[in-house]
Amino acid sequence: MAANDLSNRSILVLGASGALGRRIARLLADAGANVTLAGRNPVALEEVAASIPGAEISVFDLRDPAQAATPVDAARRAFGTLDGVVNAAGVVAFGPLADMSPGALDDVIAVDLTGPLRVLRAAVPHMDGGFIVNLTGIVATMPTAGMAAYSAAKAGLAAATVALTRELRRSGITVIDAQPPHTETGLVDRAIEGEAPRLPVGVDADAVARRIVEGIVAGERLIPASAFTE
Ligand SMILES: NC(=O)c1ccc[n+]([C@@H]2O[C@H](COP(=O)([O-])OP(=O)(O)OC[C@H]3O[C@@H](n4cnc5c(N)ncnc54)[C@H](OP(=O)(O)O)[C@@H]3O)[C@@H](O)[C@H]2O)c1
Repeated sequence: MAANDLSNRSILVLGASGALGRRIARLLADAGANVTLAGRNPVALEEVAASIPGAEISVFDLRDPAQAATPVDAARRAFGTLDGVVNAAGVVAFGPLADMSPGALDDVIAVDLTGPLRVLRAAVPHMDGGFIVNLTGIVATMPTAGMAAYSAAKAGLAAATVALTRELRRSGITVIDAQPPHTETGLVDRAIEGEAPRLPVGVDADAVARRIVEGIVAGERLIPASAFTE
């Protein structure tokens, strides 16, 4: 039996305007979930919502602590409960740490670590079972030169995911760490600072999204990088 039934579940997707977030949101909706699409850019969110009948939209900025509960409240208001959170938001920056601007350093840590933790802090008290997924990435276990802040943020988020698993063991909430390898989403071309090194061709975004949703349904706690290339 599936660990997480998606039918009629209220699921919040952070970064739903992004390449992976929008794909995951569509797959969840196809499985019968009521999705709340959260992100910064209202136009991009509307575009995704146009292909998901009944989807709710929540515009918020992960960098602003005062907006941490905004997407949680939106999901609960729209669908009455909150049964799942998928954190597919993120930004990346490239270059040696010593060359990083203070603003880019703060933004990477805020969007990739503290922002998601603040949203989860707001979400967990409203959840009765269900699941949380953090898209950390291969850098969580393989810190990479030229990506010190991103590696630190993702490793920190992976550590928090394990800690949350332990904290929430009696709650019935499955906490999942998804660690995709480099994926062809264009994320690296949208770096907030620096330029990506030459990278090998990444894995397919549709396949990554499908594998994450499979992991949610099966209640997997860890979806390691290797699981995306098998
Ligand atoms: N692509 C890869 O190779 C790869 C590999 C492993 C893990 N990951 C992780 O997977 C997740 C999705 O990546 P992706 O490739 O799909 O990237 P993407 O297409 O660039 O999507 C990133 C999403 O994050 C949102 N976002 C960025 N800054 C935000 C902020 N301040 N407040 C709220 N939302 C914000 C963006 O919304 P706006 O457009 O509205 O700003 C967008 O929806 C990220 O956490 C990434 O680190 C990616």
